This record gives sequence, structure tokens and C-alpha cells, in this order.
Amino acid sequence: MKGPFVSSNAEKMNVRLFKPSLGQEELLAVQDCFERSWIGLGPRVNEFENAWKAFLGCNEAIALNSATAALHLALAVFRFSEGKKVLVPSLTFASTATAVLYNRLEPVFVDSDPITLGMDLSDLDKKYDRDCVAVMPVHYAGHPVDMEKLVPWARERKLKIIEDCAHTSGSEYKGTPLGLWGDISCFSFEEKKLMTTGDGGMMCSNDVDLLKDVRAMRWVGIDKDNWKSAQAYTDANKDAMHWFYELSVLGYKYNMNDLAASVGIVQLGKLPEMNQRRSEILKHYMNGISNDSSILPLLPYRPDQYAYQIFGVRTPNRDEFIIHLKSRGVATGCHYTPLSLQPLFREFASDCHYIEEEINRCVTLPLHPDLTDSEVEYVLEGIRDFCRS
Ligand SMILES: Cc1ncc(COP(=O)(O)O)c(C=O)c1O
Repeated sequence: MKGPFVSSNAEKMNVRLFKPSLGQEELLAVQDCFERSWIGLGPRVNEFENAWKAFLGCNEAIALNSATAALHLALAVFRFSEGKKVLVPSLTFASTATAVLYNRLEPVFVDSDPITLGMDLSDLDKKYDRDCVAVMPVHYAGHPVDMEKLVPWARERKLKIIEDCAHTSGSEYKGTPLGLWGDISCFSFEEKKLMTTGDGGMMCSNDVDLLKDVRAMRWVGIDKDNWKSAQAYTDANKDAMHWFYELSVLGYKYNMNDLAASVGIVQLGKLPEMNQRRSEILKHYMNGISNDSSILPLLPYRPDQYAYQIFGVRTPNRDEFIIHLKSRGVATGCHYTPLSLQPLFREFASDCHYIEEEINRCVTLPLHPDLTDSEVEYVLEGIRDFCRS
């Protein structure tokens, strides 16, 4: 057991694990919504969708209240028969697999690649059977799954591909943006992600027809934006039926609102700069830990190529390491308990022995654009001190 941190010349800091990077511009954008007095589903949502379409280079983008909602609807649009199977990584956040259950489908958990911790493609092949209808690769921490191999493998088997892009925004893999490799992609703007709207998500595709019902599905089944009805009400030339709508699909209350979208528009403008800062921090960390073999980077990070949401390390003494950093005021985490170990998914358990063991060596360290160089140095000092003791 390592001893408690004793401050010598350095003051004890409190270093956050994640933090949204927000400023005056976001505040002004929200203020503008207040002044227009339209804070629900409105024109800012439309504006954000158009900005995102241009940013990703896709034909359709629909803003939702979360990536969880996006993943749910992404599977729903295919109307798969109940009980069919969907291949998901064991190492992911709950939502990738709960989306499968929401659709009355069965998750099949795939083990992690030992190097990237993304889906292990040989285990994917082993777990596949003829009941599988879709695969949901997660670009874990922001590191791309090898889509160049996964996509033709999935196409040969007629599997739909839903990319869970919750940890990435603005990265390309082999010349194609992450989020444009599959049939549908789902991005997250929850507060810890590369950019934020508080909570929010975006569902994207190049196949406009595939997403044709999603605007209704996000708005309790109503295929008509209510802000457009409100506009029609004040248009003297419109008839008396401006209020009319039909329900023809089962919908949910999953829309993004104008408050969130107005923050999203500003954040999207700042995304390249925020991603750049994340990359600088990552390089600082990598240089700082490269000399010590007992603490290894979690992934083969390539900060010049990809934007990362998670920086972490692998250590045989995970719990001691966490306690050591905690005593110094450095927040840590572990992303995630593999879903194949979760009680909710017990009935779908399958062999994911690599990640179920390896996760006991994985620790997430602070990473967000507002992290200062001295905070990173402070975390590194904590790591060095741990290695010395
Ligand atoms: C891999 C992954 N997928 C999906 C989600 C769900 O995102 P949201 O919080 O926007 O619903 C998360 C959130 O942490 C995630 O990490």
C-alpha cells in the first residue's frame, strides 16, 4: 500500500476527470433563446442539424436528446423481427446494448482487441450466426475500430452497421470520417464528450430514405415540427388546418430542444480547437509516462490523427494506483465494467474473457480541453511517485 500524499513544495490540487468546456459564447446563445422565447424543438435544432450535416459531410442528420435515443431509433428503423441478434462490444457504455433490448432484440457480446480494446474482429466472426442482423462497433475512447475490415465482413453477411460514435467527433479513419462507414451513426453531446449540449445526440446517415420516419419517431409520432405549425398560425394565407397532424408511426419524446441546439452550434465551432487541446494534453501524458514500463498507455494513442475522449493507462495495481491518485486529489475512473458481467445481461452472457480480466488493469485519467499543463504535470508527478514507492 502506498503512503498518503505529503505535499512538499507543490500545493494539493483537485483535478477533474472530465469537464465541459463552456464560455460566454454558449451563454449568449442560450440568452438569445430566452429572448426569442422559444426553448423547445425549434429553428435552432434545424440550424444545428444543418451545421452538423456540413461538418460530417452526410445527407441526413437528426438531433435527439441523447445518443441513447439515437441508438434506440437507429435499430428501430430497420424493423428487425423480435428475438434477432445484434453484435455489440462487451466494453461499452450501457446504452449500446440497452438499445438492443429496447427493440426486443438480443445482444451478443464481443470481446475486445487486446491492443485497441475495440471489438475483436476474430471474436466477432466467432460470435456471428445466421440470426444476427446488425453489428454496432464502438470507437472506444475515440480510437477507430478497423472499419476497413469490419465493413466488408458485415456486408458479406448482410448485417446492418450502426456506428456508436459517442466517443468521437471530427476524426477520420483512412480518409473517411468516423460516422460515415456504416448505415447509421450515433453521436453523443452529453457533458463529458468531445463537445456538449448538456445532453444530446445526433443520428446520421447518407441514406435519407432510411431515416424518413425518424423526425416523427423523435416527436411522439408527429411528422410535423410544432414550431412550423406555430409559424403557419401567424401566416394569414394558411387555412384553418395548420394544427392538424396524423400519427402513423410509434414515436417517443426524444427531440433535442433549442436551448441545447444553440449550445451545440457554438460548441461545434469550437470543436477543432478543443480536439487540438485534447491532443496536446495526450502528448504531454505520453511523454511523461513513456519511461516507466509498469504504467502503460491504455491504447496505441495517435493524437496527431484522432481526437480522444478517454485517456487511460494499464497497471497491474489498479486499485492501489486509484487510491494513490485520489489521495492527491486526482480523479480517476474505469471505463467500463464489461457489459457481459452486468446482471442485466446475464442471460446473454458469452465468452469475453480477455476484457473481463484486462479491465482490472485499466484506469481512466483526467482529460478535457480546460485541463492546464500544470494539472497534467501534477497528475504525472503522482504517477511517477506511485512508480517510485
Ligand atoms: C459508447 C457510448 N455509447 C452511448 C452513450 C450514450 O450517450 P448519451 O449519454 O448521449 O445517451 C455513451 C455515453 O456515455 C457512450 O459512452
